[in-house]
Amino acid sequence: MSFDKKVTIAHLSDLHFASRNDRYLTAKLDVMLAEFVRRKYDHLVLTGDLIDTASPALWTIIRDALSRHGLFDWTKTTVIPGNHDLIDLEEEMRFYNALNPDDRSRQRRLDERLRQFNAMFHPLITDDGDAGAGVPFVKVLRFGQIALSFTAVNTTEPWSGLDNPLGARGGVSRETFMALQQPEVRHALDGTFIIGLCHHAYKVYGTGALVDQAFDWTMEFKNRDEYLGAMKNLGAKLVLHGHFHRFQTYEVGGVHFINGGSFRYSPERYGELTIGADGRWSHRFVNLALKK
Ligand SMILES: [Fe+2]
Repeated sequence: MSFDKKVTIAHLSDLHFASRNDRYLTAKLDVMLAEFVRRKYDHLVLTGDLIDTASPALWTIIRDALSRHGLFDWTKTTVIPGNHDLIDLEEEMRFYNALNPDDRSRQRRLDERLRQFNAMFHPLITDDGDAGAGVPFVKVLRFGQIALSFTAVNTTEPWSGLDNPLGARGGVSRETFMALQQPEVRHALDGTFIIGLCHHAYKVYGTGALVDQAFDWTMEFKNRDEYLGAMKNLGAKLVLHGHFHRFQTYEVGGVHFINGGSFRYSPERYGELTIGADGRWSHRFVNLALKK
């Protein structure tokens, strides 16, 4: 099989489907997914913000598109949620305007959406029937002699008028960090090429241009350095993410971060990752229109 020599992964992020009538974007997604099948990518990764307004019914647009192309399958596709999948800003404002003093209800609403996300995308999270499986999760895939693993975490945190006014700040929970330190996780990852998946961006600036250095607090990955430490600790070489709609790659402390940009705003463009049996890898952004 061809994947004895290399494994190829296509990466999309921030699709932001806003309604069922988003036919232009649905057609673009069909073109893109058909191309992935034609080019025989071994796996597809979607790093969150599948939809725009946290209406779980809209996730079916993505599920159905993946199904149409035979990609709604554990071995073919991996998805994680983003803040736009889990936080409905209008809903939060309604509760806020009602002066609901119960901050915990924000966490409960987020937890409930995450539960719905896990239910909808359950067939992409596990293949062993574990009904409780969900984000965070570790997924190990074997392609011939190459074993890959995805360590997927949730980085969305509840909306907060003072601390998270756009719902776009985020971080990894204490429980998730503890889970990642479990010996079973290390054991599962042993001997695999480890790829971290998260929605939030380690960098929300970063071209080096002065004009670009205004750090955007509203989009911050609050405990990014702790996350970086956890990824290093596990031996992850790469992290795929989205959130900040820019196609870019950068390296921090030996870990390479790849931002998959935004499919909604650049539906011709995607990330292509190639991993060899010797652990060497390469990445490039591909433009469909230009590709032969
Ligand atoms: Fe986002």
